Amino acid sequence: MDPSTAAPKARFIDLEPSEESFLEAVVAGLRSDPKRLPAKFFYDEEGSKLFEKICQLQEYYPTRTEIGLLKEIAPQLRATLPEGTQLVEFGSGSNDKVRILLEGVGRFDSYVPIDISREYLRAQANELAADFPEISVTAICADYTMDLHLPRHASNLPEARLGFFPGSTIGNMKRHEAITFLSRAAEILGAGAGFLIGADLKKDPAMLNAAYNDADGVTAAFNLNLLKRINRELGADFDLAAFQHDAFYDEAEGRIEMHLLSLADQSVSIDGQSFGIAKGECIHTEDSHKFTLDEFSAIGQAAGLTPEEAWSDDSDLFSVHLFRIR
Ligand code: AVI
Repeated sequence: MDPSTAAPKARFIDLEPSEESFLEAVVAGLRSDPKRLPAKFFYDEEGSKLFEKICQLQEYYPTRTEIGLLKEIAPQLRATLPEGTQLVEFGSGSNDKVRILLEGVGRFDSYVPIDISREYLRAQANELAADFPEISVTAICADYTMDLHLPRHASNLPEARLGFFPGSTIGNMKRHEAITFLSRAAEILGAGAGFLIGADLKKDPAMLNAAYNDADGVTAAFNLNLLKRINRELGADFDLAAFQHDAFYDEAEGRIEMHLLSLADQSVSIDGQSFGIAKGECIHTEDSHKFTLDEFSAIGQAAGLTPEEAWSDDSDLFSVHLFRIR
């Protein structure tokens, strides 16, 4: 191909994040009481595809609601962000949401996606660089909870940087983890920068329960895929038919909890070790916290951020918060 017509490519910085050993995490989780498995391991290739399907489900309102909000907010950001702002996305995943900001805000001259999934990050970053040739894209392969330095941005204005953490992924963290993550991210972004974060809202428990118990069983398949992955990658022998997806809203904790409920007394072997699981026993796989606008502002404040604005849709299903880093 003539190099002058080749599509622009993203710059790629590989910080070679050390991935937590899957085997160690699974063994430790099954030894603990109650048993648990870390939600971050949901996202192998099949799990990521199932999650994409979840995002399209009628019952799963967060994705489409947040997309609607971002479209609404974009003109306001256009009015307030300086020309030449750098957009930094933590745990970037797919390009769907960032496209809305790049197209609708029109103030960005660089985009820095940070993600641990090396090949997916590379592909998504190159796709975006080709579609937005006027924006310089620098992908950083890193665990976004580790220390890292951002590429310099062209503008000297401290406020010419915007962090972006959509999807209410922050709801999958415990409160103290969310505060630690936000303070680290604030250090990375630097004083003066803005930080735009999606947070799912508290609402009628029936709606929450439906969102995590869809009629087509996609969320159940997503949850059970964790056991499938353990069988495939660690040579375990989980009998998938002997577990049932169990998700419910715990009002006192303000969160959806996902579990895998054992339907029989059974024993599973992994790497030469065996684990007894009683009938009725649960393996806790995920928490998804829901917030009020004030609760989420308070979490930001506890991390040293100043709440600047918060938007929610007409039905108060989902929120997007803009914080300022001091
Ligand atoms: C990625 N995260 C914000 C999703 C959530 O809603 O907590 C993961 C998910 N689990 C089940 N459905 C979706």
